Amino acid sequence: MKTRNGYARGALTVHSDPAALTAVTRALRGAGRKIVLVPTMGALHDGHRELIRHARKVPGAVVPVVSIFVNPLQFGPNEDLTRYPRPLEADLEACREEGVELVLTPQVEHMYPPGSQTRIVAGGLGADLEGASRPGHFDGVLTVVAKLFHIVGPDVALFGEKDYQQLALIKRMVLDLDFGVSVVGVPTVREPDGLARSSRNVYLSAEDRERALLLSRALRAGAAVSAYGADAVLERAREVLAGLPVEYLELRDAETLGAPVPGARARLLVAARVGTTRLIDNVPVQL
Ligand code: PAF
Repeated sequence: MKTRNGYARGALTVHSDPAALTAVTRALRGAGRKIVLVPTMGALHDGHRELIRHARKVPGAVVPVVSIFVNPLQFGPNEDLTRYPRPLEADLEACREEGVELVLTPQVEHMYPPGSQTRIVAGGLGADLEGASRPGHFDGVLTVVAKLFHIVGPDVALFGEKDYQQLALIKRMVLDLDFGVSVVGVPTVREPDGLARSSRNVYLSAEDRERALLLSRALRAGAAVSAYGADAVLERAREVLAGLPVEYLELRDAETLGAPVPGARARLLVAARVGTTRLIDNVPVQL
């Protein structure tokens, strides 16, 4: 049944105008529905589908919402903004197949109208790890996520653990700035051979894809020797990565991403260049 507000229960409705979507989600929330958001930059793969499946399983009368927006603010000047894949029709078909009810596809001018200048600043953690080689990246991520939270008004928002630092920073922002949103991390979806699913995997040649497997292999090998302590974990992972241009390989506390605490949950994180593509991955480690 299609409502006057641009929503049809059980079917997909696409909104490009953020204000129109806000009106719909507000009305639905008022009617007791739970708004669950999966923010994406499109090029949807199995990792995104898994996020949507998790979204649909959130208890309550859920309205699954996906945003598709390639956010220019989170790309550096020499990054892949212009060549980033934008297969909108295939993305909408994936959303339809997964039972998404609302999709937001704003234009850049909708999100950043002329004169836009206010930004969220990620702080110290935002300049570490990914932030060290991608200055300003997390300010861009947090700014767009804050805007999406305001536009969609979700009760719950889901993010992949593949971008673990991003997830930690979004949780921090929600606490620091009192967003009443429950942020949930979903485990990384992997190819059968271990490669973490990523929209950037399409850039890998057959040869690069083989070398890319070193990331997940190194992480698994490191995590397997966690009983011997942090140094052993890092040494083992480093051995597997030998020959690959690694940007960082770090073992951090799973909550704060500060120094790992013996006995606490930790996270082993890696970033490396494979051919022209920069890949990241991480796994949990119990020290
Ligand atoms: O993880 C992503 O795809 C993006 O960083 C996000 C969270 C959609 C913000 O643009």
